[in-house]
Amino acid sequence: MSLTDFIQNYRKNKRILFTTPSHGQGNFVVPECRKMLGKKFYTCDFSEIEGFDNLSNPTGILDAIQNGSAYLYGAKAAFYLTNGSTSGIIAAMYSVLCRNDKVLIARNCHKSVYNGLVLTGAVPVWIMPKYNHEWGIYETIDLDYLEEILSRNSDIKAFIMTNPTYEGVMTDIYRVSAICKKYNVFLIVDEAHGALWNFHKSLGTPSLVQGADIVVQSLHKTAGALNPSSILLLNKDCVIPKERIQEALNLITTTSPSYPMLLNIDSTINYLDSDEGWQKLVDLTKNVNRFIRAIKSIPNIQVYQYNNDITKILIKITNMSGFELSDILFSKFGIEDECANEKSVLFITGLGTDKFKLKKLEKALDKISLSNIMITEEKTKESPIVNIEPRVRYTPNAVWGRAFREVEVKFAMSRVSMELICDYPPGIPVLIPGEVIKKEHIEYLINKKQTIKVLL
Ligand SMILES: Cc1ncc(COP(=O)(O)O)c(C=O)c1O
Repeated sequence: MSLTDFIQNYRKNKRILFTTPSHGQGNFVVPECRKMLGKKFYTCDFSEIEGFDNLSNPTGILDAIQNGSAYLYGAKAAFYLTNGSTSGIIAAMYSVLCRNDKVLIARNCHKSVYNGLVLTGAVPVWIMPKYNHEWGIYETIDLDYLEEILSRNSDIKAFIMTNPTYEGVMTDIYRVSAICKKYNVFLIVDEAHGALWNFHKSLGTPSLVQGADIVVQSLHKTAGALNPSSILLLNKDCVIPKERIQEALNLITTTSPSYPMLLNIDSTINYLDSDEGWQKLVDLTKNVNRFIRAIKSIPNIQVYQYNNDITKILIKITNMSGFELSDILFSKFGIEDECANEKSVLFITGLGTDKFKLKKLEKALDKISLSNIMITEEKTKESPIVNIEPRVRYTPNAVWGRAFREVEVKFAMSRVSMELICDYPPGIPVLIPGEVIKKEHIEYLINKKQTIKVLL
């Protein structure tokens, strides 16, 4: 039975509740919320009442639907997350790492990995992915180098990486997982942007299928769910017991999960698994491919080709910075992109992207390319270097809460940062508390901020 059917059946009982949540299944709704969300949203919102279940120790309907999803994804266990992939990534780290354990992390990680380092007290060892200066983005890690690091550091316990990258670049996880297994290292994959892969082969091969131990996906990023609906998947072959993941999740998540969100997670997965969902993905693929073919023929436009995940479209226009293109799209055409850098602009597509939306973007790009908006002189500035190799002095946990003082950025050289420097999006850390501030950090920061917090 789906959660929707379960809730609908329950509603027939007309039980009188003196429990939380106190809106009493919509008996009271703040007028503004009634206007914006409607009463119906509230009628799906429950606590752990009789006959329902408890997400922190599921034995009833929540256990059944999560088990159903585990079966569907080919996992040992599936955990619905009502606090996003952020919570799944931290729980994954908690379930394999103890204080002072070494963990190898690809530097293009999301900042939730930093949060996990603060909480677990694990010691980060960083591996730098290749950086593409022409497009201003991180690409994949060098797998020979990965093997070299693991062979030299037998005390590394886990490896955390992002697949696909924010811009859709995929890594050969079959090979990564083989390397990790060889050196007895847990592989945690942040697949926040790959939630559609399980449902249409042409979109990508799920990291779980390729052998990752724990995978976390955001269903809200490309799969059309509400913010922040996510799922954590545990591999059948992984030795970590599912109870360990549950304990880790219970450390950091609410005891009052949102039922509308759980319903949203469950029904999104069921939809993606249906014929209608499959057709929607076929249409999405067709529409995006058609769009890419069309914009490739527009003069001065380049489309990034190495992101095999077609839900991410990265483009640039000759002689125009990504920021400038982004500004023009927004101010003149009302089109908002996901993220821009000096070189390029990223557009994220998903279940809510139809051919009409894509056509509007195509027309706007066509106009920008041909009109006077086109910039004639060389305006594309040098990309500020964000792929700065970190020098770790203290672990994020060791400096958490320590005394600091603010110094001018230009005088911060060689001091230990007490700030997390991280543009959002994409949420990839440039400098982490406990790391030494290098010349390149100062060059990166000097026009962005005046002062920085450093360790006293
Ligand atoms: C690569 C990556 N991982 C994890 C996250 C966190 O996901 P969520 O918003 O579901 O917590 C994000 C969000 O931007 C992300 O881009």
